[in-house]
Formats: sequence, C-alpha cells, structure tokens
Amino acid sequence: MAGAAGSKAREGWSSRTAFILAAVGSAVGLGNMWRFPAEAGANGGGAFVLFYIFCVLLIGLPVLLSEVLIGRHGQSSAPESVRRVARDSNASTGWGILGSLGVFAAFLILSFYCVVGGWVLYYIGVFVSDLFQTGLSGGAFEGRDVDEIKALLPDLFGNGGLMVGLNLGFLALTLFFVARGISSGIEWVAVYLMPLFFVLFLAITIYGAFTGDFSQAVSYLFTFDASKLTGKVMLAAVGQAFFSLSLGVAGMMTYGAYASRETNLGKTSGIIAGADTAVALLAGLAIFPIVFAAGLAANSGPGLMFESLPIAFQAMPVGSLIGLLFFTMVFFAALTSSVSLLEAPTAYMIEKFNLARPVATITVGLGAAVLGVLSALSFNELAEFRPLGFIPIFAEANFFDALDGVTAKLFMPIGAILTCIFVGWIADARLIDDENGIDGLLHQIWRALVRFVCPLVLSVILIYGIFG
Ligand code: PFF
Repeated sequence: MAGAAGSKAREGWSSRTAFILAAVGSAVGLGNMWRFPAEAGANGGGAFVLFYIFCVLLIGLPVLLSEVLIGRHGQSSAPESVRRVARDSNASTGWGILGSLGVFAAFLILSFYCVVGGWVLYYIGVFVSDLFQTGLSGGAFEGRDVDEIKALLPDLFGNGGLMVGLNLGFLALTLFFVARGISSGIEWVAVYLMPLFFVLFLAITIYGAFTGDFSQAVSYLFTFDASKLTGKVMLAAVGQAFFSLSLGVAGMMTYGAYASRETNLGKTSGIIAGADTAVALLAGLAIFPIVFAAGLAANSGPGLMFESLPIAFQAMPVGSLIGLLFFTMVFFAALTSSVSLLEAPTAYMIEKFNLARPVATITVGLGAAVLGVLSALSFNELAEFRPLGFIPIFAEANFFDALDGVTAKLFMPIGAILTCIFVGWIADARLIDDENGIDGLLHQIWRALVRFVCPLVLSVILIYGIFG
C-alpha cells in the first residue's frame, strides 16, 4: 500500500507495475482508437499526425511528469495535492483551483466518453448476434454488402432510446469498478486486460497491413505538408495529445497520488507516453488502410473506427469472432480510461465531503448521467441544438461535440499551462527535484520545457487556434 496521507491510511497501487498498467490503462482508450483517427482524418492527415507526435514529446511528456509528481507528493485528490505542494513550497494554496478545474473537466469528459463507450457495447452485441448467425466458418456479416455494414452506426445514432440506454449501461459499469476501490476494481482491469489488448491489437494491425491499402494510409498519415498546419489543426493536435495522455484534467494527478515513493516517475512517464503513442499510431495504421480500400471518406467524423473495422472483419477468416474479441478489448481499454475519469471527481468528493466511496461514486455518476443523456441525444432528437453557437470555433458543434471541443481545446491546454507555471515557477525546486526521478541533462531539458517552452508554445497555439 502506498504512502499514508494525514491520519487516514489511503489505498494505493499494489506494485510499481500495477501503477504503470493503470496509468497506461487511463491513457490508452477511446482517445487512441476512436478520437485519434477521427481527428487525423478531420484535420487532413500528415500535418496533424506529425505535429501530434511533436506535442506528445515536447509538451505532453513534460506535463505528464509534472502532473504525476504533484499527485505523488500530495497523496490526495487533485485539488488537495496541488494545495499540499503549494503549502510545502510556501506558496498560495489558491493554486488548488488548478486541481478543481481539472476535476470539473474530468467530470464533463466522463459524461460524453460513456456515450462512445455505449457504441462499443452496441458493436459487441452486433458481433455476438453475428457469431450466432454466421458461426465460425467465414468472415463476419455473411451475405451483407459494405453499405449495410457502414449503416450500422448511423442506424444506432437514429435510435435515441437505445443510445441513452447504452450510455447509461457503460456508465453503470464504470461506477461498479470505481465503487469497488483501487486495488480490487481498477487495478484488476488494468493488470489482466491491458496486456491482452496489446497483443490482439497488434495482430489486427498486421492483418490490416497485408490486406488493406497500407501504402496510401502510410503516406496519408505521415506526409508532412506545412501548408496544412493551420492554427486550427495545431490546436486540434495539442488537444488530442492531452486527451490521449489524460492530461490537463486531474486524471494523472489523481493516479499519481496512489503511486509509492519507490516509483521512478520520470521513467514511468516515458513508458506511459510511449505506449499511448504507439497504440494511437497502430490504430491509424489499422484503420486508414481499410478506410481507403473501402472508399470511406477519411473525414467522415466520429464514426471512422466503428465504420471501417467491421468491414475488415467481414473479409477476415473467423471474422465474427475476431470482431467480437476486438470490440471486447476496446471495451476494456475504454473502461480503464472511464474509470480514471470517474476516479478524479470521486476522490475529491470522498475527501471534501467525507463520503463513503460508493456514495461519492453514485453522486458523481448521477450528474454524468444527466449530461450524458444530452450528449446521446445530440445524434438524434437534439441534433440541431448548438449550445455554444456564439463561439466561432464551436458554432457548428452539437452538445456532444461542444463538450468534447471545450474540454480538449480549452480546459486541457489551460490546465496544462497552469500546471507548467505552478511546477516550473511556483513550487519549491527542491521538492520537485526530489520527486521527479530524473537528473543531469534530462532534468535540465525537462525543467526548461516546463518553465519556458510549454507555457509559451501552448499559449501561442491556444490564441492562434481560437482566433487565427
Ligand atoms: N486518455 C483517455 C483516452 O485516450 O481514451 C481519455 C482520458 C482519460 C482523458 C482520463 C482524460 C482523463 F483524465
């Protein structure tokens, strides 16, 4: 059990490996498989992808280390951890607002994340029923043409009741694991299921490489065209890097608080960022060959993964079974992320109001359910509703897109800028050095990035992306 905070002994990860897997579990999720390809497609491919990689290395990684170290030092919920670092540095505890903003943003993300989690549940159902119909003989969806497979997702979108039901189902599963607590709930999913997910995912990517239009996908994803790197594309890439690494919204601060003193945070951050980026790129390389081979539009929006992969499963031997396995794995990857989104506000509620864990979990869950229903209905009944119509970059966004856009493009970069200023300029340098697990040149580079490069580059991208 990791460290004790105040008088109450807190639960923690049972080992360093468990912490790494849980943090990787938080990072790797729908952001990699659903959001990354959709954003890459919507933002023209190569310029977005290469700038995304740049953001992960130069901004994401230093911010990730800053967040987990705040959490580990504070050993509390995100706002209290920030306050504790501030107190131990003789700085104003008003910095706690950084953690509170993050907790609020995590709650907002949770609400629409579970909507997409619901789509995953739907596809699991589709493949189960297909397995009964087609058996193990050939590919999935025997006798159905590509248009019918493509229509699965729009058909679901048209059914408001089913969308809401699936959303609430996914949220309920998330509540179940978080209510059980750190080691028996969250850690179990991460330790047993994440490794399985990696193996299956790699296998599917290799299959896609041999059967789809791989070379077109590679040139689409990795050809850099500087003229396509607009402010909008840069802000989208930075937002995606944060979303994917669970940054700027208290997620990694909350998990850092369960890490033990023995964990080297520098190394761990490198592993998390490496694994997360590898999965995003693999997702791109698995999905885009099929997108091009099947004549789908690369910029077809949030459904890209859900529309493309089932087409590949149709062509694969034992496709129904592979489809079922794949979506089951995506489900677990999504669950290990949604669990971390719920854990951030739950840890805060437990601490602030002294609630029992299950009570805190259900309270947060009820709030997320209300917002989630609005998001689920933005694909059907509320399709015309434009909640942020007065803000130009969100003028076209429905409720779901508005929440997604505001959190990734405003909350996350602003949270990260504040984190960098706090860690780089406000917190006691000795306290920070003591926690971060890196030294020598690496330490100097990290410090320069956190103090100067990240806040400056992020501020410029934010302003240029919103107004440019
Ligand atoms: N990183 C997760 C994903 O890529 O799916 C999403 C996420 C989880 C964002 C936790 C933020 C967070 F705090």
